[in-house]
Formats: sequence, C-alpha cells, structure tokens
Amino acid sequence: MTVLRINSFLIFVVVAALLGGCRGQVSDKAPIHPHWNMDNVKRFDAQEPTDFFADGRTSRAPVEGTIAVGQLREDTVLQSGVDANGDFVSTMPSGIALTAELLDRGEGRYNIYCAPCHDKTGSGNGIVRQRGFIPPPSFQDARVRQFPIGQIVNAQSAGVRTMPSYAPQIPAEDRWAVAAYVRALQISQGATLAQVPADVAKKNGW
Ligand code: HEC
Repeated sequence: MTVLRINSFLIFVVVAALLGGCRGQVSDKAPIHPHWNMDNVKRFDAQEPTDFFADGRTSRAPVEGTIAVGQLREDTVLQSGVDANGDFVSTMPSGIALTAELLDRGEGRYNIYCAPCHDKTGSGNGIVRQRGFIPPPSFQDARVRQFPIGQIVNAQSAGVRTMPSYAPQIPAEDRWAVAAYVRALQISQGATLAQVPADVAKKNGW
C-alpha cells in the first residue's frame, strides 16, 4: 500500500515537473494550435480592394430596399407624429388608447428621459440645463401649449434644433405615452376647478 502511494506521488511530481518545465520557454516557432476552426482564413481589412468583384470593393452593399429585422417603419404617424402631407397630427394613432396605464408609462419614461433637461414639471429647468446646457422651453409656453400632440411626438422622434432625437432610446409607442404625459403636465398647471370632475373635487373637498 505504502509503495503504491509513494509511486503515484512520484508520478505526480514527475508529470508536474514536466508540464511546469514548458513554462517560460522562449521559442520563435508558432504556438501549437490543435483546433484550427476558422482562425486562419483569408480575410480583408476595411477599405481593402479586391479584384474578385468588378467594382473592386470587398464588402457588398445590401440589396436595394433591404430592411433590417425590426426596422420596418412604414407607419409614419406612429413613428413620427406626421401624416402623409407632413402635417403634425392632433389625435393619437388608432392603435394607442389614452388610458391611465398609458399615462403611468409616459410618466415613467418622461422622468427617465426628459426630466433631466425639461424638469419633472416641464418648466425646462432640469438638472442638465442648470449646468449650462441650452435651456429648453417651458411646456407652459403659449407656443408649446398649442402644439398638436404629433409635434410633441416628433420632437422625440426626430429631435428639434439643439435637442437630440430620442428614437433610439424610446420605442414609438412609448413616445406617444410620453407625449400624452407632457400634455397632462400642461393641463395640470393652470387648470380651473371647473375642469375637475365633480366627484373628484368633492372627494378632495375642493
Ligand atoms: C439633453 C436635454 C434634453 C432632453 C433629455 C430632452 N430635451 Fe426636449 N428640448 C431640449 C432643448 C434644448 C430644447 C429646445 C430646442 C431648441 O429650440 O433649440 C427642447 C425642446 C423640446 C420641445 C419643444 C420643441 C419645439 O419645437 O420648440 C419639446 C416638445 C420637447 N423638447 C420634448 C422633449 C421630450 C418629450 C423629451 C423626452 C423624451 C425631451 N424633450 C428630452 C433639450 C432636451
């Protein structure tokens, strides 16, 4: 038993020494590469010409009209708030219903994406603006108050002058939710008691 144990210990030491001995050796030969896979296929660098194609370009342009998966944006009203004539729409697309859930969603997205500049109330005095960024207008400005809802969506889809587009961050449906919430912010300030539903006013003792 003891002999066997000593033997296996010796074998371990010898194997370990042999393997360890490979480390740190300098060699100008390529490392052993048992699985080649596609590690060494012929390839072209960016902008490198080829004589394989008549136009000499190695990368091919996509077939005309190619659209990446998920990028088909045919519905311009939904996507950018403008109709076929290029006018801002003043109603929500038929697929989007104005519900409390939509406004909740819009509030969440607004507070994440817009409030840093526009402020949670829409005053335009958000934290980014306070650090020297060009001031956004207040959503209470008479000019902005009369925007059709499509224009509030379009500001997010396409950007406006110094404001960048938020289309990459906010999907189209959410842009409508945000626009509805912006409208709610506008209505919430300067609203009259007569606009509050009677039962809500009564419940709150107004
Ligand atoms: C990085 C800061 C910033 C963020 C974030 C931002 N905005 Fe703006 N926004 C601006 C500025 C600046 C302007 C004024 C642009 C100008 O007139 O040059 C503006 C203008 C606007 C206008 C008025 C457009 C007009 O025609 O005058 C609307 C509406 C608007 N933003 C909505 C939004 C909404 C909704 C979001 C969130 C999805 C948002 N903004 C996010 C900076 C921002």
